[in-house]
Amino acid sequence: MNPHTTLAVAEAAAATATYAAAVRQLNVSFGSAHVLKDVTLAVPAGRVVGLVGESGSGKSTLGKTLVGINRPTSGEVLIGNKDFTMVRGKARQQMRREVQYIPQDPYSSLSPRRTTGQTLAEALDPRGADPVKHGDAIAAALERVKLDPSAADKYPHEFSGGQRQRVAIARALMLEPKLVIADEITSALDVSVQADIIGLLQGMRGTVDSAMLFISHNLAVVQEVCDDVVVMFQGRIVEQGTIDAVYRDPQHDYTRKLLASVPGSPDFTLD
Ligand SMILES: Nc1ncnc2c1ncn2[C@@H]1O[C@H](COP(=O)(O)OP(=O)(O)O)[C@@H](O)[C@H]1O
Ligand SMILES: [Mg+2]
Repeated sequence: MNPHTTLAVAEAAAATATYAAAVRQLNVSFGSAHVLKDVTLAVPAGRVVGLVGESGSGKSTLGKTLVGINRPTSGEVLIGNKDFTMVRGKARQQMRREVQYIPQDPYSSLSPRRTTGQTLAEALDPRGADPVKHGDAIAAALERVKLDPSAADKYPHEFSGGQRQRVAIARALMLEPKLVIADEITSALDVSVQADIIGLLQGMRGTVDSAMLFISHNLAVVQEVCDDVVVMFQGRIVEQGTIDAVYRDPQHDYTRKLLASVPGSPDFTLD
């Protein structure tokens, strides 16, 4: 299948209602910089889709557009069957709860003045954030990310980087969103801690209904965690498919180049 056929498949997928989220013919510019170019992509319900590409290729821009932080110049952003770009007011606030974004550095998103319990309660109920009232839900959320129940009473600075990322994952899943966007969430961690988080994500497969867009420049990590992979190059999607298909038989030169740095892949070279 050549890359054009692959894109036609994506178009077809985006046209059906089996996705958690999708973008169609998406363009995003910052001033004169045209960052995302005609991006069409569907994240099927319940699946983990890896988004790979070199630094500056537009991965975070796509993630932030899906969560409503960036506004597209043109195109559609579909969450469930609703176009995010068209809704305003209360409906927009509701849609924002259906897509959760986890950044690389959770220090930037976890409030330093709130305990984990308060943070998780707030995710459930922004106005009535009450860790006591929501105690059961908080305990279940901590259990899901394999944190001790005592974590509920701790502040972000009391955790290691890996533990903070677990809190961020727990918070993102609190409302069972349609889509979780994990943007380089293991990139800042030590290799052994990275492996712990990868193991956690693998263990959660099949127990979490939310779909995930897993953004990473590390193809070995993507192979461990994801069902499908989307390759982005200079603001365009150049290839997408299942992990097996793309890693076994990459169609695009850029994908081959990326895979050449992954030990164990057919295209791996030592240079
Ligand atoms: N808010 C912004 N304003 C201006 N330029 C931006 C903004 N966000 C991203 N960019 C530019 O868009 C390009 C893609 O960035 P980004 O999506 O962060 O790439 P990636 O996540 O793949 O490394 C870069 O050239 C970056 O400088
Ligand atoms: Mg990025």
